[in-house]
Amino acid sequence: MDLRLMTSALAVALGISASASTPVYLDPERPLEERVDDALSRMTLEEKVAVCHAQSKFSSPGVRRLGIPELWMSDGPHGVRAEINWNDWGYAGWTNDSITAFPALTALAATWNRDLAALYGKNVGEEARYRDKDVLLGPGVNIYRTPLNGRNFEYMGEDPYLAGEMAVPYIRALQSNGVAACVKHFALNNQEKWRDNINVTVSDRALYEIYLPAFKKAVTQGNAWSIMGAYNRYAGEHCCHNARLLNDILRGEWGFDGAVITDWGGAHDTRQAALNGLDIEMGSFTNGLTSESDFTYDDYYLARPYLDMLRKGEVSDSTVTAKARNVLRLIYRTAMNRDKPLGSVTTPEHYAAAKAIADESVVLLKNNGLLPLDPARYRKVLVVGENAVRHLNLGGGSSELKAKDMFTPLDAIREAFETVDYAQGYVTGRFMYNDEDIIPQATLDSLRQQAVDMAPDYDAVIYIGGLNKNGFQDCEASDRREYNLPWGQDLLIEQLAAANPNIVVANITGNAYAMPWADRVPAIVQSWYLGTMTGPAMADMLTGKVNPSGKLPFSFPKRLEDSAAHNFGEVSYPGVDTGDEGPRQEYLEDILVGYRWHDTKKIPALYPFGYGLSYTTFTYGKPQVEVTTDGDAIRLTVPVTNTGAVAGKETVQLYIGDDKASVLRPVRELKGFVKLSLEPGATSAAEFVITRDDLKFYDESSHAWVDEPGTFKACVAASSADIKSTVPFRLTTEGKLKK
Ligand code: BGC
Repeated sequence: MDLRLMTSALAVALGISASASTPVYLDPERPLEERVDDALSRMTLEEKVAVCHAQSKFSSPGVRRLGIPELWMSDGPHGVRAEINWNDWGYAGWTNDSITAFPALTALAATWNRDLAALYGKNVGEEARYRDKDVLLGPGVNIYRTPLNGRNFEYMGEDPYLAGEMAVPYIRALQSNGVAACVKHFALNNQEKWRDNINVTVSDRALYEIYLPAFKKAVTQGNAWSIMGAYNRYAGEHCCHNARLLNDILRGEWGFDGAVITDWGGAHDTRQAALNGLDIEMGSFTNGLTSESDFTYDDYYLARPYLDMLRKGEVSDSTVTAKARNVLRLIYRTAMNRDKPLGSVTTPEHYAAAKAIADESVVLLKNNGLLPLDPARYRKVLVVGENAVRHLNLGGGSSELKAKDMFTPLDAIREAFETVDYAQGYVTGRFMYNDEDIIPQATLDSLRQQAVDMAPDYDAVIYIGGLNKNGFQDCEASDRREYNLPWGQDLLIEQLAAANPNIVVANITGNAYAMPWADRVPAIVQSWYLGTMTGPAMADMLTGKVNPSGKLPFSFPKRLEDSAAHNFGEVSYPGVDTGDEGPRQEYLEDILVGYRWHDTKKIPALYPFGYGLSYTTFTYGKPQVEVTTDGDAIRLTVPVTNTGAVAGKETVQLYIGDDKASVLRPVRELKGFVKLSLEPGATSAAEFVITRDDLKFYDESSHAWVDEPGTFKACVAASSADIKSTVPFRLTTEGKLKK
């Protein structure tokens, strides 16, 4: 780098104003595109290729000669992952990389609170700043298609509207720290089994109505600066260099100007990577996706092989200029962003934010009056279940976190009640990815018997089990093997309930599961991987310090067969292995995912999407409906009153159904939600605006969103299955909305 450029670069880095001699690309006063153009004009072909692939496990180079910095990335999405070695997946063993573990994204989705999504993004972004990261690998917005998907806990449920609405504030607030979101995994990475190469066949309609909208919102409304390609294939091409997904849809239709980053090891072909919209290749190895090899960064598909093709004229130089342009934009927005604030970690504010999110995420599924547990009445409590003590920040794959503190449920419950004893009930080891722990039956039998023998001596039993982040549970790279809870928990819960009728089952999972014991226990709580504040959040909810207000972001089918993806045989899930062609699958349930399936096929879920109880009661009044004078919108207002004795929060949901259409439509679909906070006796109004966009379906033949004149229903609801009032309205042939 010449001395003049070096001085300018230093001045800019130190925040000293640019002088007349400052080159355009280093002048922060100049518009981004001018700076990018100027930088590009100074870069050699080799330098452009260099910014398109990794230089270590989690970084890519900048342009050292020009003083353009490296990009440093980190998982994501629930906190900033511990430092990883330069060249392999081992942890680097730093002593200054402990952070706050925020609640999993499933939990965030269960809050149905956009403000909490923004709080999440702001706080995790501050931690990323402190750790000097430019890109945080998240949030994940893949749709919950099957309860067996090992990675659902990292996503935001089964509904594209909910996932999109929660992703946007998270992304905006995160990026206000000068840290890029990297929205993942684009697209159709809806299971972990065969994730590396399964070829997904899905109709255009299901693609546009179900699997893409949350990504689209993240890009067009959240203005995400980067996006991560998925491992799997779609239309025969790997998603990390997929012409339709990346060129046509992401850039063509949505106008994305950020960088496309591969999932780690997701690139497979230099020509496709050159032509099909990929910008940065990370994590590649010759011999597979995640194992270590001698494959060097120069051997990456977008390194020397790409340079060779460019030099021979086999692909045009414009491909690498376009990639370098996208990467430079990302660097300017993050590493070269002079306005970014200083970061901080594990502050009281971060813990308070994690607690606030956790508090609003826990879902009360059943309560015959046992909850909240009053410590004055229930003095002697038995806690059973491994998740009461297990540090669930560990495991799960790439989202694993090195938390500075993990406050466990058992510790928090001990603080709340006079006498608390503990019985483990079952035991598991620590295994990730494709490793599985098989626990000897005799061990499980003896732990179960010990807990059941203790149970009658207590005023109440709090059971805290569920899944954990071991392989084949809620963990990356493998799917669950069964819908029931593992390690003999069903029998354990049934015997505990028989031994002590005052039992609360409060499971921690990122997925739905069978509850054969649901009728035999008086209270059921659904909790999530809540991170650092797991214990305090669960204890406060169980004792009534916090009134639960979470609602399910996905349905709990009674049986696995009741879930849409599992209704069409193995071609639908997990797919069929066709030998040389690799595994393939067809999404035969099409648009009928989650509650759309349960409602349309009249197969009730055990606990439906959007469902969750409170310690108070809410009464929904009559909706007021008003059409705007131009007929373009309907304003729907519904009063909701807290009719119980304690303050509480209620998420009022709006679903819309089309009475008659030329295509099959779900009975109704979520189009709005408002979370109200109400003191006892208070009334507040939830307001919704319905426009023609809310009535549309995706028409495959015209490749357009279409609304057909006719009658529709607006349903105000407390869950997808609890409709409080229905308001009919019309769309006229002139395209106007009428009552
Ligand atoms: C995961 C990504 C993650 C990446 C880096 C991959 O295995 O699928 O979600 O960001 O690793 O750790």
